Amino acid sequence: MDKPRILVTKAIPDAGMQRLQEVFDVSLGTKEGSLGHRELISLIPGFDALYCLLTDKIDSRVIEAGKRLKCISNMAVGFNNIDLEAASQRGIAVCNTPGVLTQTTADLTWALLMATARRIVESDRFLRAGKFQEWEPLLHLGQDVYGKTLGIIGMGRIGQAVARRAWGFNMRLIYFDPLAPDLSLPFPAEAMSLEELLKASDFISIHTPLTPQTLHLIGPRELNMMKSSAILINTSRGPVIDEEALTQALKKGVIAAAGLDVYEHEPELTPGLKDLENTVLLAHIGSASIETRSAMAVMAAENAIAIISGKQAISRVV
Ligand code: GLV
Repeated sequence: MDKPRILVTKAIPDAGMQRLQEVFDVSLGTKEGSLGHRELISLIPGFDALYCLLTDKIDSRVIEAGKRLKCISNMAVGFNNIDLEAASQRGIAVCNTPGVLTQTTADLTWALLMATARRIVESDRFLRAGKFQEWEPLLHLGQDVYGKTLGIIGMGRIGQAVARRAWGFNMRLIYFDPLAPDLSLPFPAEAMSLEELLKASDFISIHTPLTPQTLHLIGPRELNMMKSSAILINTSRGPVIDEEALTQALKKGVIAAAGLDVYEHEPELTPGLKDLENTVLLAHIGSASIETRSAMAVMAAENAIAIISGKQAISRVV
């Protein structure tokens, strides 16, 4: 019997590809760059399953065109790139990869927090530009992390992993979770309203999924509630922050600094953001460790294999 056909939109770690090849006839959408939306629509009718990435927009047009599709397996925990309603109307399973990237993303969040607080990237740039003359009492003064208040917005898996790391820094932990306002947590952390958290935090780290409710959760009003010394970190999804408002706030000193791994119009940045020294800007690398990207690739492969074999996927969204 012929193997079912799966389209993998772009190159993924080998371990995922090898697992897929055991069960599927695998086609790679593109070796370089990205598979365009139109190209995806023209290719998809020939496939039983789609293995996609967070950069692939799987809207109702792709789903309509996928006449044979049984499964959309996203190699990401976030699934805001997929029209879930269109998929579930057609009875197509949508799967994601939670869990395997939790610790890696929490590590990166801390790297970003520390780098932003202590002006690490700015100091590195300064030195490389040949500007370092001698130790100076006022050079690149940042902010202490130890003993400060960390406000976590979104206390799910990744939010909790970030919170656990704050123990070592003797921080006060506070949180606001738009989906689960009062959680029972295995460590001390105080639940509060978003407004209270914004006013009380020295560091604010965002870990919510992108939904219509969290779109622009942080806008001009929220930025104005923060301390002028506050540092905002985002490793979730860019559109949770109104990036134009953030850029203005950073310019005017409404808040002290921001560490971002994700952007509202990714990969584009709001004009002016890149020019600000009080930002550390990463290229969406939250889950980018060798081990974790491999684990995500295999988990997404297992999800697709389970669905196509009529079994229960490890993580199915709809
Ligand atoms: C990364 O951003 C993911 O959703 O996995």
